[in-house]
Amino acid sequence: MTIDGRIASRTGYSRLSCDEDFDLQHELRAWSDIVIVGSNTVLVDDPKLTVRRVPGKSPLRGVVDSRLKVPPSAKLFSIPGGVLVTTEDHDDARLEPYIEVGVTVIRAGKGVVDLVKAWKLLYEELGVSKVMVEGGGHLNYALLDKGLVDEVWVTVSPFVFGAGVSVFDGEGFDGLERKASFRLKGLKVLCGSWVNLRYEVLTPRLPLDI
Ligand SMILES: NC(=O)c1ccc[n+]([C@@H]2O[C@H](COP(=O)([O-])OP(=O)(O)OC[C@H]3O[C@@H](n4cnc5c(N)ncnc54)[C@H](OP(=O)(O)O)[C@@H]3O)[C@@H](O)[C@H]2O)c1
Repeated sequence: MTIDGRIASRTGYSRLSCDEDFDLQHELRAWSDIVIVGSNTVLVDDPKLTVRRVPGKSPLRGVVDSRLKVPPSAKLFSIPGGVLVTTEDHDDARLEPYIEVGVTVIRAGKGVVDLVKAWKLLYEELGVSKVMVEGGGHLNYALLDKGLVDEVWVTVSPFVFGAGVSVFDGEGFDGLERKASFRLKGLKVLCGSWVNLRYEVLTPRLPLDI
């Protein structure tokens, strides 16, 4: 994100990482069982979400998409290991084009994806226990709000956008009755002017036995 907490400018520009930050991103991908992004991120950036810059295996690659806005031709579905996380609203015929290209479908909730249920199904049906989420701001916020985030790794890049998508974009915590709070676990300067911060989430946090 930029110094003012934006992950995309008002015109959609979002290339903020330096080389060492990209390396860290790919190390984290290699560590995880699945990398997940929100539907808007796929529509805007069409990322592959594979591991390319460091040694290691590419994880599963998923998108949270309630309304099937992401087409089966999206790059994250182009090699085996694509996962579509959607709602229970769509019948088999609507999902067939995804299944035909080898995508695994997880259905959770009605109207909007029920993230708590979806995360449980990822574990139960695909054996996923390490999830890395790479945005965008709305999915980041929704997961934090539901208490599903253990750690936040954020790299502050030396830019300001002044407007655009916030790294956590949603209804907002009032900061008094309900706050999102963190403990700093580590920090690293990258490429001279970028700072990677690693936080443990203190609140909100779901109990582990859900
Ligand atoms: N700089 C960076 O590191 C970085 C990283 C990632 C993204 N980005 C940028 O961020 C922008 C996209 O971010 P964004 O915030 O607009 O979108 P997003 O978080 O990628 O996607 C949000 C969408 O996910 C879907 N979704 C499904 N279930 C959901 C749930 N339970 N809660 C929340 N969302 C749910 C919703 O659409 P449906 O209801 O239709 O399903 C929602 O509109 C792009 O410009 C991209 O370039 C930047």
